[in-house]
Amino acid sequence: MARKISAPRGTHDLLPEEAPTWERVEAVVRDLSSRYGFERIDTPIFERIELFARGLGESSDAVEKEMFRVSGAKGSEEERSEWALRPEPTAGIVRAYIEHGMHVRPSPLRLWMLGPMFRYARPQAGRYREFTQWDVEVIGDPGPMVDAELIELAHRFYAEVGLRGVVAHLNSIGDMVCRARYRDALTEYFAPLSSRLSADSQRRLQVNPLRVLDDKDLDPELAAGAPKALDYLCEACREHFEGLRELLGRLGVRYEINHRLVRGLDYYALGGGGRYDGLIEVLGGRPAPAIGFGLGIDRTVIGAQKQQVTLPARTPLVAVVSASPDDAPRRLEVATALRDAGLRVRTDGLSRTLSKQLEAAAKAGARWAVLLGEPGLARATLRDLESGDQQDLALDTLAAEVVRAVDHRTPSRGSK
Ligand code: HAM
Repeated sequence: MARKISAPRGTHDLLPEEAPTWERVEAVVRDLSSRYGFERIDTPIFERIELFARGLGESSDAVEKEMFRVSGAKGSEEERSEWALRPEPTAGIVRAYIEHGMHVRPSPLRLWMLGPMFRYARPQAGRYREFTQWDVEVIGDPGPMVDAELIELAHRFYAEVGLRGVVAHLNSIGDMVCRARYRDALTEYFAPLSSRLSADSQRRLQVNPLRVLDDKDLDPELAAGAPKALDYLCEACREHFEGLRELLGRLGVRYEINHRLVRGLDYYALGGGGRYDGLIEVLGGRPAPAIGFGLGIDRTVIGAQKQQVTLPARTPLVAVVSASPDDAPRRLEVATALRDAGLRVRTDGLSRTLSKQLEAAAKAGARWAVLLGEPGLARATLRDLESGDQQDLALDTLAAEVVRAVDHRTPSRGSK
């Protein structure tokens, strides 16, 4: 036998048994994106590396160590890798916004996207090299009203998916002016303590001291004593933050202040987001305030499975089986007529006895079976596979009768 090939490390296949939970979460994503007035955007899965380097800042993990590089075909001009698989969607969306002159569209612009992202980090539970995000971005609104709206939206997403106990963590690191003051305060605090920091943090202290706070190995005692960003906010940023808190209170959204929340990008969380008011300018566009979030779909699905979230019932499945094992063409013909009527139907072309066909139908999750008798018979039997009840139906009105029976007799129930 030939050697088997397995999936790349850090990726995972979506198997059929997991699909209903994914579909449920995706349905909530599409529904909420539309109900909140967002317009869909899709950008390429790979972009020029420079976009992410500029967009995310050279000192973020996503750029520093997690870039998934892509190169062109051997011998081509682009062979030396200039591209990377997108580690997150915001940079690509802002690139598209600038490239298509979208600043002339009615402002604020509200965009959403659902798709795969790639980070070349060491895989672990819930941390993959390929994962899916639901992303929303609002460009052109300085807040704080839209900040509260997006946090409420994320909150509603988890509630509609059925996840319990999700809490928003909130912080503000201010604007360019107050952030610079805060950065200095952090450097002053951590510099004399640098021997107690991890090697990573010692380096970050030089490049971006804020990121020392999101080092998960940081001594909790040092973290607790560190200056807090909220104490360094300028008047405008303090007002913004207080306004946001007030609105969240009015909307009834639960949140906690988290003083160590400084970057969003590297957090081990269900989702993350925040303002990026300076990014559009950094990427060569006209300055515009912007905010967004990215919610991890994989981690949401894992959470839903752990909490055994009840999924809405699907339309019942009808199986078409026949007394004669070799009657496959007629099974297909009847299945097609039932599908024309809008039913969800399966059948197969295997040559099996009626009892084997029924067994296979039940295993495949069929709730109903249409049993075809000997060829030439103008009648068929509809069997409720749960109760065993049967009714005799005329073939020429079969589809309408099955639709009626299925509508009336299948109670709507949740399925796991
Ligand atoms: P992020 O915090 O890096 O933010 O990612 C958002 C979410 O994506 C995370 O909370 C997590 O659920 C999921 N995620 C990230 N990395 C992985 C991974 N390796 N495996 C599985 N899930 C993962 C951003 O990407 C920002 N662009 C969010 C944003 C949008 N900010 C403004 N607009």
